[in-house]
Amino acid sequence: MTNNAFSISRRRLFQAGAGLAAGSSLPARLLAAPTRDYTLNLAPGEIQLADAPFPRTGVWAVNEQVPGPILRCTQGETMRVVVQNNLVQPTTIHWHGLRIANAMDGVPLLTQQPIMPGQSFTYEFTPPDAGTYWYHSHVNTGEQVGRGVYGVLVVDEPRQPTVDRDVVWVLDDWRLDNAAQIVDDFDNQRDFARAGRLGNTITVNSRISEDFAARSNERIRLRLVNAANARVFALQFRDLDPWVVAYDGQPVDPVRPHGGVVQIGPAQRVDLIVDLTGAPGSRSPVIDTYYPQAPFLLRDIVYGDQAQRPAPLDEGMRLDPNPIETPNLAAAKSYDVVLDGGDLGDLNRAELRGQIAGMAQLVMMGKMWAINGVVGYRMDMPPQFTFRRGETAVLQFRNHSAWPHPMHMHGHHFEVLSHSGQPHRTGLRLDTVLLGPGDEAKVAFVADNPGDWMFHCHILGHAEAGMTAVVKVV
Ligand code: C2O
Ligand code: CU
Repeated sequence: MTNNAFSISRRRLFQAGAGLAAGSSLPARLLAAPTRDYTLNLAPGEIQLADAPFPRTGVWAVNEQVPGPILRCTQGETMRVVVQNNLVQPTTIHWHGLRIANAMDGVPLLTQQPIMPGQSFTYEFTPPDAGTYWYHSHVNTGEQVGRGVYGVLVVDEPRQPTVDRDVVWVLDDWRLDNAAQIVDDFDNQRDFARAGRLGNTITVNSRISEDFAARSNERIRLRLVNAANARVFALQFRDLDPWVVAYDGQPVDPVRPHGGVVQIGPAQRVDLIVDLTGAPGSRSPVIDTYYPQAPFLLRDIVYGDQAQRPAPLDEGMRLDPNPIETPNLAAAKSYDVVLDGGDLGDLNRAELRGQIAGMAQLVMMGKMWAINGVVGYRMDMPPQFTFRRGETAVLQFRNHSAWPHPMHMHGHHFEVLSHSGQPHRTGLRLDTVLLGPGDEAKVAFVADNPGDWMFHCHILGHAEAGMTAVVKVV
């Protein structure tokens, strides 16, 4: 690690430690902070996705599992992750939502050479923010993530809320054939032009609906991660009243989910604190209601006969803030970000590789999405936006298309200033902003992380079909 990166993380740690008692002990603590070492082996494998008599499903696994292992460190610690590529394709691993040095961001051609089959690459970084994050392949992303190359990364707060259990639920969906094998149409143009690749089988931690064993009045921290290529989830906890305590890793004042529904777009994370208040011996469902005509039972919470305690906890559960810079709106510069294309949109022509092409011509090249009329085509293309280091940028999103777009910028988090019709989102800090059809949203961020970063839709087929740009922070 360079000296420069070291001093940045130390400065951040100082800010993060504002609430700690003995400030003078921090540098010593940092010098002593251990490095967490992990090895991820990416390789073809099989998992029991559907129940017997269905056979195991062929996947691309991480350490023989999907999702891959949970990588964990405490805020301020360094992680060193060796990624061994035993897949049949080149790959990289991107650390989604971590505001780390550009060289460790895992974008092929832009920040590193792809890791060729049989090769390995060592990532080393110190996550500045506590919270729930995830890692995933960033080469041929739709297929590699769709086949299972992803996992969860948790950065623990030095001071954690009191819970009985810390639980991770990775939401995903799979397009399976009658033999429970993944349907091999990752280049399906109809998916690209519409809602993206939706599966026919929804899973939590790669298991179809099963029981979640609980105790009455147990308090859990539930980390939800949406790893699906395209599906938005809307969770209802029928008999429970969860608190949302963080979005995309960034703490919020504890709040009940808007309308009783926890909405979570592709790549987003939501941290909940849930008091499981059902009676011993009872059960209560958790349902995905994003498509109201096709609700899906994700899990049945099943209470054992023993209660955890006679009544639910009532103590506080607020997370300490992360050391993220506050946008300076008085000096901000505004940028339009118009999203257009796809079926039923009004994109007639767009710029591709410096040339204007008509929609029919674009579609023949597998392209049908544009940001400000410009079609993305590879990860090391010239930057479409350039920000001065330290500047506050306001992005004014307008979704002119008929489809949702979870827009993600690497290396930064946005603060939501406004989102059409959704005042409850104001103030959230997100790395991925979900824009519904026709939505407008204004977000601000401090461009404090130098380098070339991807800025793309996280419906992975949309990204591949053009909704991708590079932004530069100089
Ligand atoms: Cu999780 Cu470039 O994305
Ligand atoms: Cu999109």
